[in-house]
Amino acid sequence: MKKNLLKVLSLLMLGLVILAACTPAAPAEAPAEEEAMEEEAPAEEEVMEEKIAVGIVLPTKDEPRWIQDEARFTEALEAEGYDVEILFSQGDSAVELTNVQSLISKGVEVIIICPHDGTAAAAAVNQAADAGVKVISYDRLIRETDKVDYYVTFDSIAVGAQQAQYLVDNATGTGNPLYLYAGAASDNNAFIFFRGAWSVLQPKIADGTFYIVNSSEAVALQDKAELTRDEEANIIGQITTEWNFDVAKTLAESNLTAATAADKGEVFLLAPNDGTARAIADAFAADPEVTQYWVSGQDAEKASVQYIIDGKQSMTVWKDVRTLVADAINAAVTLLEGGAPEASGAYNNGAADIPAIQSAVVTVDKDNVKETLIDGGYYEAGDFTGLE
Ligand code: BGC
Repeated sequence: MKKNLLKVLSLLMLGLVILAACTPAAPAEAPAEEEAMEEEAPAEEEVMEEKIAVGIVLPTKDEPRWIQDEARFTEALEAEGYDVEILFSQGDSAVELTNVQSLISKGVEVIIICPHDGTAAAAAVNQAADAGVKVISYDRLIRETDKVDYYVTFDSIAVGAQQAQYLVDNATGTGNPLYLYAGAASDNNAFIFFRGAWSVLQPKIADGTFYIVNSSEAVALQDKAELTRDEEANIIGQITTEWNFDVAKTLAESNLTAATAADKGEVFLLAPNDGTARAIADAFAADPEVTQYWVSGQDAEKASVQYIIDGKQSMTVWKDVRTLVADAINAAVTLLEGGAPEASGAYNNGAADIPAIQSAVVTVDKDNVKETLIDGGYYEAGDFTGLE
């Protein structure tokens, strides 16, 4: 397994070096060539002849989550002594398409892509497939095309379920105000997170533990344990943050303006990820009628880990990006070798069942933050203040 990973890394890095140079580099110019040669089985000429290359496309640099992924890809690949080039789409499907086209023109054989808009990305994927390029959907599912070869992701149902469970575990009695927030409707994950959360919250709304403050669509559907995608879309349409901190803050503020004093006091906030959690938490913290809030999150972004230590965010769902990166690299090499990456299941993307592997996620709060993220070596203690 380790040998295979080293081989993969070597192949990938060689490909990325080729990409960075835009033209195939002479073998002698490839950095750390000897190191790579020691580790890998195929002869160098064989690698060059096969023009093995992989491109990575991530959605935006504006969210720490994707900077984390960039860093973890770089870390995994540079561990072997190479540079790595990763393209960002800056929240724009047109840029994403250009990125994919540019990678295709450079002769890549596999593209690892996390789409900005899961459905819009189908056009880029179809072009890649037409050019004989394999596509791995990374974290977010690319929809409405059967040309996605593989999907690496986390257990996104569990993400939403853990967020909701945290709110449930901290609620006492009945009649607790619940504010719902969701991700961008263009991201399939936003639906899955919400579905996971709804599966836990709906029975607790039905039994009176919570009542929904900020979505008439959710209130209209609150007796339904399972929602259709269209019903989920109707709710998400009212509570979307668009994965944007400013949108999240403005929405939370307008929800607070519309809320009565009775809807405040101790409140429960389903926030879909860390960036939006911080924005929503700040808005609720600034309202004098809110005496206490519980807010969920996701991604274990450093800023949110600090918020958790400081008691400003209640929890996050940690998704170990190192695992996702390793899964993506392993899948890329298997595809490059003409094989089918091992799948633990499949996700239907509207056009086909896409073979997938998904990783577990972990709830982190003040009680286990040090043990999980610092002692576990994911982050360094020096990155934070006030750690016990
Ligand atoms: C990812 C989350 C991320 C969100 C916003 C989702 O698809 O799974 O980790 O916080 O997008 O970028």
